[in-house]
Amino acid sequence: MTASPVQRRDADSVRVLTIDRPERLNALDRDTLEALDAAFAAAADDPQVRVVVLTGAGPKAFVAGADIAQMAALTPIQAHEFSTLGQRLMRRIERLPKPVIAMVNGYALGGGLELAMACHLRIAADMARLGQPEVNLGLIPGFGGTQRLLRLAGRAAALELCLLGTPIDAARALQLGVVNRVVAAAELEAETMSVAAQLAAAAPLALRGILDAVLAGGECPIEEGLQFETARFGLLFASEDMREGSAAFLEKRKPQFRNR
Ligand code: CAA
Repeated sequence: MTASPVQRRDADSVRVLTIDRPERLNALDRDTLEALDAAFAAAADDPQVRVVVLTGAGPKAFVAGADIAQMAALTPIQAHEFSTLGQRLMRRIERLPKPVIAMVNGYALGGGLELAMACHLRIAADMARLGQPEVNLGLIPGFGGTQRLLRLAGRAAALELCLLGTPIDAARALQLGVVNRVVAAAELEAETMSVAAQLAAAAPLALRGILDAVLAGGECPIEEGLQFETARFGLLFASEDMREGSAAFLEKRKPQFRNR
């Protein structure tokens, strides 16, 4: 049996998924996309998992893109299928009902940046480099990069990164809003796990409401988004965790959320 290209480990209620092809800088071939899709589906279904952290194995790369060697041999129909497979994975991650943090430990290029952008938060090591270099291959991003970069960082950044294809450093990515935080490489894991622990202790139904509302809001007119927010706000008053959160505040103690 060949080893899975995606390793998984649980630390309390945080699931850490590691793309494990360091000799290829964790490039995404079809098997890796499928393994990630299955791993995220399992994380979504597992009630013990409250937060997912996604990272790449080895000291150099988060993910250096789609696997160019595999991609180069595709027919147009196969390339269409490959793009659809990648986009399906990114959409699954984006719509996961629990927070997903990309721990960007190095290169996040092409499909790697697309993968990081599908996650809800991005924490990058200071030596990371991020970009959409597909243009250098005579291509365009195919796993949602043109669309998510536009929504995440605006038209100017999307056009700059995709047209020029030149990777940017972590500091510039922070300035553009492409990543949320940048920390020294040696601090990356501790910082990411600390953010994950904060999310793991939060009320899961509230987190889910935020994820749903913000995602919906990016895809619909504001009137619809506001109605969606109101509906989810009202619904949370049916949750035990909402009662617990308010009671804990009034009683000056820490809340214990139970996902109910
Ligand atoms: N696909 C397949 N193999 C890759 C790869 C990729 N995306 N990125 C790196 N590798 C392989 C290299 O071929 C090399 O293999 P060998 O040891 O057999 O030669 C190994 O990983 C190590 O890489 P390098 O020797 O190139 O390492 P480096 O430190 O000199 O350079 C790098 C690092 C700048 C990231 C360089 O590897 C690079 O430019 N990689 C390609 C980046 C890229 O173009 N990504 C976009 C892919 S297209 C895409 O993603 C389409 C989409 O949107 C769906």
